[in-house]
Amino acid sequence: MSGIGIEGGCRLTGEMEIQGSKNAVLPVLAASILHSGVTVFTHVPDIADVRASLEILELLGARTEFRDHFLWIDASEAGPSEIPKELGERMRSSVLFLGPLLARFGEGALYRPGGCAIGKRPVDYHLTGLTRLGAELSCEGERILASARHLTGCSVTLPYPSVGATEQLLLAACGANGPTRILGAAREPEIVTLCRYLKMAGAQIDGEGSTEIVVHGFRPVAREIRFQIPGDRIAAGSYLAAAAVTGGRIHVEGIHPSHLWSTICGFRQMGCDLRLDPEGIFLSAPERLTALPFLSTDPYPAFPTDMQSAFLAMMSLADGESVMEENVFEKRLTMAKELNRMGANIEVEGKRARCTGVERLHGAELQGADLRSGAGLIAAALAADGVSTVNGFEHVERGYENMVEILKSLGAKVWKITE
Ligand code: UD1
Repeated sequence: MSGIGIEGGCRLTGEMEIQGSKNAVLPVLAASILHSGVTVFTHVPDIADVRASLEILELLGARTEFRDHFLWIDASEAGPSEIPKELGERMRSSVLFLGPLLARFGEGALYRPGGCAIGKRPVDYHLTGLTRLGAELSCEGERILASARHLTGCSVTLPYPSVGATEQLLLAACGANGPTRILGAAREPEIVTLCRYLKMAGAQIDGEGSTEIVVHGFRPVAREIRFQIPGDRIAAGSYLAAAAVTGGRIHVEGIHPSHLWSTICGFRQMGCDLRLDPEGIFLSAPERLTALPFLSTDPYPAFPTDMQSAFLAMMSLADGESVMEENVFEKRLTMAKELNRMGANIEVEGKRARCTGVERLHGAELQGADLRSGAGLIAAALAADGVSTVNGFEHVERGYENMVEILKSLGAKVWKITE
């Protein structure tokens, strides 16, 4: 257990370079099992979920070396070992190893994944899709065993554009005979990144970034692959929100503004001035944010659920009444209760939070239940009067590299608390 101490009231100012994307790197690390050679990744974030993925890769027989955001992986000697419960439970993305294991070795075994406490998070779309491709699955409690003598390309229609299920099917389809058509696919930039890596490893793929993706086939290449992980759009949005809520001015470098379009619109509607260039975003916040009458989360390109907590923190201090609707994960509005303990005025009913902005928040001892709500509470505490402690910082560290040092470099008074 760890926490972060924050003395609020400092405006964040300055420049920062954004880390590599957590949600892009994790599926690509699972995909590296499909490449029976060396991959050199650059701009890899040094976060707990990446470390857990490396443990899984090593357990599967891959060799890895990770230093200064460079990651070297040789999966040529990898094999289909079972991923133990303890490792699988550490992060949701562990389940993504099932597809590549089936594709390369015809078998895989792991436990239902862990991750953030933001709702049920089933993997039924993953498993149904794998079955459609010809995998035989059996579940013994939390343990999932999968095998397939042959995977056969087919059409799979996802009932919802699940990011993880789209990634799972792309990965498994690389082992299938004949084309696989994924209908109702997720369109997130991380899907496009995964397809870019798979193509370098020998896949023929069309349609990534749209709702219909076709994997035509996979001819493994023997050469070394070099691959750069793109900047983290959610981490970028989180730091911009922390600057916005403190009335600050920051420049976040290393991010494509086009990947944050709905988030940028949200900042602007709340009164922030944003200047965009191809490689970064400059944000200057007003003295007081303006309320946003209605904002709802939905799959990309709509406003992302991963930015919801940060915007709720902003809404709690904005002038007027805002409504936030959460349409992706059912438990993601629980952070409102913590904000109310700081003096916010938020009422939650079902999937909607109605927020009447207050002029000041006050420091409190707070519990960050998951990665993004932890980051949202930290933003609120940076703007609050007095000292706050946000517990559960270990969740935040699953996705944000070096957050304490970055916030300090932007002028915040923060310190890590380790028990
Ligand atoms: C990914 C992201 C996460 C983000 C989420 C939505 C990673 C590592 N995580 O999570 O940060 O918040 O996308 O943008 O990339 N669902 C099912 N059955 C399934 C799969 C999903 O019912 O088999 C439901 C989920 O419960 C949820 C919705 O579909 O309500 C979206 O989930 P999904 O897009 O799969 O999210 P993740 O891939 O887990």
